[in-house]
Amino acid sequence: MPIQIGILGLGTVGTGVVKILQQNAEAIQTRTHCEINIKGILDRDLHREREVSGDFILTDQPEKILQDPEIDIIVEVMGGIEPARTFILEAFQHGKHVVTANKDLLALHGHELLDAADKAGKELHFEASVGGGIPIIATLKESLVANRITALIGIINGTTNYILTAMADQGRDYAEVLAEAQQLGYAEADPSSDVDGLDAARKLAILSSIAFNSRVALNDVFVEGISRITREDLAYAAELGCTIKLLAIAKHQEEGIEVRVHPAILPLTHPLASVNGVYNAIFVIGDAVGETMYYGRGAGSLPTGSAIVSDVMRIVNNIQANSTSPSNCTCYLELPLKAASD
Ligand code: NDP
Ligand code: HSE
Repeated sequence: MPIQIGILGLGTVGTGVVKILQQNAEAIQTRTHCEINIKGILDRDLHREREVSGDFILTDQPEKILQDPEIDIIVEVMGGIEPARTFILEAFQHGKHVVTANKDLLALHGHELLDAADKAGKELHFEASVGGGIPIIATLKESLVANRITALIGIINGTTNYILTAMADQGRDYAEVLAEAQQLGYAEADPSSDVDGLDAARKLAILSSIAFNSRVALNDVFVEGISRITREDLAYAAELGCTIKLLAIAKHQEEGIEVRVHPAILPLTHPLASVNGVYNAIFVIGDAVGETMYYGRGAGSLPTGSAIVSDVMRIVNNIQANSTSPSNCTCYLELPLKAASD
């Protein structure tokens, strides 16, 4: 029996998730020892032309997904606070695990959702909420867990980096490049979240809560966006051998935690100065490991879909590892033909 998933939202990211599950089905099955099947997708527009098709139900009725007893995992990629929050809580009530890319929701209600998951004995994963395809959440939660993290410094909004890069390198107009970023599926449904720095602030609240093992709220973050940066500012910066980037900075010092998002002038020799276009990069400094840096596409359909599908596969592996009854899945592990003592 395959593991069944339900997807809430068939936009930029939802489409990437479907494509990856379909195109990489064989490799995914080999790595999880299980077939992962998309049973149903919720979207409000049932008539829009889609880039993807398949043997799934497309519905505008949430209960058909959330209350389907066969669905094990819900992928929430519709965005916004409500009804996404209610749908995720309902998913836990109906015994489903959840994967989400929704940083708006996590920055405001992350602890409520994690508590609900905990009470239901289910998993909530959100790798895609920060850094698009960069595995930064898993890095902080797992690979660097032996460290006391002292600082995070990064470019964590793809849209604004795309705009600043095009303005600096090609002297292009702000509004024209923003429209292009929207067209490419990088920007938020309301792109003022990107340009005003709020999207980066939400991501910084999520990252610093994990890195510093604290509750860092969105309101704690100082935020200034890029809407006042002009082509002239970028040209002056270039004359000084510098560029302008929207930085997200979190520091854990003895006096407390400092979290801020704002444009900054960086010398061209700085590693973050050469992070261009939709790419993101995050410096993480740990007391044991020292300086580390993570780089990749910070937005877009397939990079974000990559993070989501990896989270789904993590859950599938955990379901199988925790299963005390015979697995739902067909097992593709080859068992030794003979006992070792033979
Ligand atoms: P899109 O707007 O492209 O897709 C969302 C889809 O969900 C749309 O088809 C939308 O329909 C549908 N939808 C929204 N609300 C409802 C509802 N109440 N009922 C049914 N359908 C609904 O957004 P993205 O795919 O770009 O983003 C999805 C999530 O992923 C967001 O939380 C975003 O912040 C996050 N994210 C996005 C990234 C990106 O690169 N785009 C990267 C990382 C995270 P309609 O079009 O009619 O509104
Ligand atoms: N709008 C976001 C960005 C999407 O441009 O970074 C990825 O979270």
